[in-house]
Amino acid sequence: MREDDIDSARSLTHAAMEKVRATTRPSGTPGPPPGPPTPAWTSLWTRRAQHFLRHDPDGCWVADADGKVVGVAMALRRDKLWGLSAYFVHPEWQGGGIGAALLDAVLGYSRGCLRGIIISTADPRAARRYRLAGFTLHPTIRIGGTVDRSALPIVEGVREGGPGDRDLCDSVDRQIRGAAHGVDHEFLGGEHRLLVSDTLTGSGYCVVDSSGSPGLLAATNRKIAQRLLWSALARSPEGAEVRIDYLTAAQEWAVDVALAAGLSLRTEGYLCLRHMRPPAPYLPSGAFL
Ligand SMILES: CC(C)(COP(=O)(O)OP(=O)(O)OC[C@H]1O[C@@H](n2cnc3c(N)ncnc32)[C@H](O)[C@@H]1OP(=O)(O)O)[C@@H](O)C(=O)NCCC(=O)NCCS
Repeated sequence: MREDDIDSARSLTHAAMEKVRATTRPSGTPGPPPGPPTPAWTSLWTRRAQHFLRHDPDGCWVADADGKVVGVAMALRRDKLWGLSAYFVHPEWQGGGIGAALLDAVLGYSRGCLRGIIISTADPRAARRYRLAGFTLHPTIRIGGTVDRSALPIVEGVREGGPGDRDLCDSVDRQIRGAAHGVDHEFLGGEHRLLVSDTLTGSGYCVVDSSGSPGLLAATNRKIAQRLLWSALARSPEGAEVRIDYLTAAQEWAVDVALAAGLSLRTEGYLCLRHMRPPAPYLPSGAFL
C-alpha cells in the first residue's frame, strides 16, 4: 500500500461497511455513520491510514484487480503483539479469494510476534478467515444508549491526562495486554481526551471521544477501571448516544457499570485472539486494538 492508494482504500472500506450494516445488524455497527462518507469520518480514516503507513509500512497491503484497488488490510506490531486494524474487500469482489490473499500478506507482518488480536464484524466470511488463521473467536457484547444522569456516582481519583502520561499508559498496557500502544497513544491523544487514574492501589487510563464513549481503556484493577468508565460516561453531553464496544464476558466490571447507567446490551461480532486470553480489565480500540 502506498500513500496514493488511501483514497480508493477508504472508499472501498466505506462500501464494505455499508454492506455489513445492511446484511447483519442495520443499527449500531461501529464504523462510518450510515449514508455517504461524512467529512469527519473521511478525515479520521485518512489520518489513521497515514499513521499506519508511517509506522507499519510492511503491515499495509492493498489488492489490485483490473488496475483498481479492490481490497485493503492494515496491521500493526507493538512490542510482541500483532493486530489487524483494517480488513476490507469491495462488495463486488467479496467471496473470490482476495480476502484470503490479503490476510496471508498481513499475517506475514506478524513474524516474531507472540500474540495476535483482531476485532471482527459479524460478517461470517471474516470469522471464517480468522478462525482458519488460528484465532480463537470470543463473541462480543456491544453496549449503547444514553446515560441516566441520576445514576452517575461521585468519582474520585480520576484526572485529565496529557502527553506527560504516555509512560503510565504504556506501562498499564504492558501489564494488561502484554504490549504498549506506543505511537498509537500519540495519535489518540491528538484526537480525544485522556482520563488517568494513578493511585496507591493501581493505575489506569481511558481515551474518551466527544460523545463520552470510551475508545480504549486499560487499568490494573477493576475498581480503577470502573471509576474511569464512570468518569467517561459523566462526560457524555446530555442526550448523547454512548457506545461501549467489543466486550467479552471477561469485562463484567464494564457490563455492571453500563447496566447501572441505564445502557442496553446486545451481541455482535468477535474479539479474535491468538496465544492470549482476553486482556482485563480492558476495552480495546477498534483500530488500535
Ligand atoms: C471479510 C472480507 C475482507 C473477506 O474478503 P473476501 O475476499 O470476501 O474473502 P475470501 O473470498 O478470501 O474468503 C471468504 C470465505 O468465506 C466463505 N464464505 C463466502 N460467503 C460466506 C457466507 N455467507 N457464510 C460463510 N462463509 C462464506 C468463502 O467460501 C471463503 O472461504 P474459503 O476460502 O475457505 O472457501 C470481506 O468479505 C469483507 O470486506 N467483508 C465486509 C467487511 C468486514 O466485515 N471486514 C472484516 C473487518 S473485521
